[in-house]
Parts: sequence; structure tokens; C-alpha cells
Amino acid sequence: MSSTILQALIFNVRHEAPGIVSVELRPVAPATAFPTVEAGAHIDLHLAPGLVRSYSLINPGDSHRYVVAVLKDRASRGGSRHVHEQLRVGQVITVGAPRNHFRLDETAPRSVLLAGGIGITPVYAMLQRLASLQRPAHLIYCARNRADAAFVADIQSLVLASGASLSVRFHFDDEHGAPPDLVQLLGGEAKDTHFYCCGPGPMLDAYESACEQLGQANVHLERFAAAKQPAAVATAGYCVELRKSGRTIQVAPGVALLDALLDAGLNPEFSCREGVCGACETRVISGEVDHRDHLLTHQEHAANKTMMICVSSCRSGSLVLDA
Ligand code: FES
Repeated sequence: MSSTILQALIFNVRHEAPGIVSVELRPVAPATAFPTVEAGAHIDLHLAPGLVRSYSLINPGDSHRYVVAVLKDRASRGGSRHVHEQLRVGQVITVGAPRNHFRLDETAPRSVLLAGGIGITPVYAMLQRLASLQRPAHLIYCARNRADAAFVADIQSLVLASGASLSVRFHFDDEHGAPPDLVQLLGGEAKDTHFYCCGPGPMLDAYESACEQLGQANVHLERFAAAKQPAAVATAGYCVELRKSGRTIQVAPGVALLDALLDAGLNPEFSCREGVCGACETRVISGEVDHRDHLLTHQEHAANKTMMICVSSCRSGSLVLDA
């Protein structure tokens, strides 16, 4: 259940747009390197005891620094507020090694990237990666207004430098007078185009239905927060054998598996508690899982090899986990 933990120096904190800062982290020991950043990956920042938050990395290909961009969310449960108000250059914090549940298909003949607001962060990383590979890509970047959108000038420079391989369309609600029409913006693409979207929940829902309406099959997305689907809390209770720790835990009816493990004095990793970040992903040895996360594909759910213990549960009376 535990992933590699790294110590990182806060090397720079930069204003990117109103309410958005980027945080650059470097290895504490200058001669060492981090695991390399993949486009679409995110890391956990261990901000304070009990406060772990995942943020997308915006610098693909780098191993000497990690850069994340964080919007100060008015509805913050503590994470983004802590980043904006407490993190200072020179502090050392713990971070997790990158995880990637939003992988770019680098062999796709063409990619269409759709970002809403701060959802630009993994999408910007993808655009940079596709630029470095000289693969054709089109970015649609939507935000309420231009002034609040991060990386607009960087994106324009990247597109300009790419020759004809990249294109961008900005959609700022205050300039267009209406939210984007995704069927129109995503239309006209070949069937082997790959689509990627990160943004607020309503945009993701509209994106999924637009892709369905357009008959597109290569549709990828990343959520910041869970859709309305509830966590699976088994009504019957079940038994979980933890192979590595040699413990057997009884999960009471109505209790989340993550909470049962925490109550038993175990120390599983977790962050979002909503099945969107992957921090709690745990390998399944046997037993049938009731999957409720928003990360794994239908095929991965059917394969039943891992589960997100914060939201998923058990259908079969007992589970054996590699934990
Ligand atoms: S804690 Fe984020 S997926 Fe479980």
C-alpha cells in the first residue's frame, strides 16, 4: 500500500494567475534525481499530519524537479489553502513518487486535449510531451475569463514554436458570452483520434456525452473530485486478510474498508477519500471487489487486480489483499 516517499525542497513558488501558484520542488540532496515525470502523472504532497493532497505535474520528462500548479479553492478542505498560505521557499516536505492514471497514448495519430480551469495542469503536461514528440494535437482551453487562466502565454509560445503540429483554441466564457459547445468543438475528428479532458465535474460529464454523441471511442479523462456515485459500503460486512502484515480485519456493515484498516491501527496511504487520486490503490490477491473508483477502466475493474480501498468494497464475503 505504500509508495516511494521522497524528501523535496521547495525551491520556488510562483504566481501564475490570480489564485494560482506553481510550486517547484527539487531533491533535498542536489546530486540525486526524482523518478521521471510522465505526462498526466500526479504526486501526493504530504502537507501536514493527515493532510495529503494530489496535484498534477506540469513538467514532463524532468527528473531534477517536480512542478505542480495549485488553485486556491474557495471550498478548500485545507489542501490548497495550506499550499497558498503555508508553503515557503526553503521548506522541506515529503512527497510521493508520481502515479499516472491519465496516460497519454503517444502512438495516437492525433490527440485532442480539453481543459477546464485548473484542469489545464495535466493537459499542459500532455501538450508539452506531444510537442516534444512532434505529434499532432489540438488543445481546447476553457476558463471563465482570460485573466484567471494559467499558462496562456506559455501555451501560445509552445504552439507557435511547434510549426503546424499543435493548435489551440481558447474559450473564455466572458468573451464568448456562453459556455463552450463541446459537440461542436470536439466534432470533425477521425475515429482514431484520442481525446483527453480534465476539468470540473459538469465539464467532464458534458465531455463524455459529447464524445458518445460523436461516436468517439478513445476517450480519457481525469477527475479532481468524485462524481455523484457513492462509496461502496457493504451492507453485510466482510473479512479482509492482509497478506503482508499478517492481519485479518473484520469490516463491519456500513464501514469503508479504509476506515476499518485505520481503526485497526494500520497505516494505509490515502488522500482524496473519493476514489480519484489513486493514493490508496491496493493489490487484490483474491475475492471479488465492488469497484466504485473513478480511476480504473472497466477492463481494470473486471481484471480485479487492484482496488481503491477508500471507496470500493467487497462482493464476495472475504478479500485477500497484498497489504
Ligand atoms: S484515497 Fe484517493 S483514491 Fe483512495
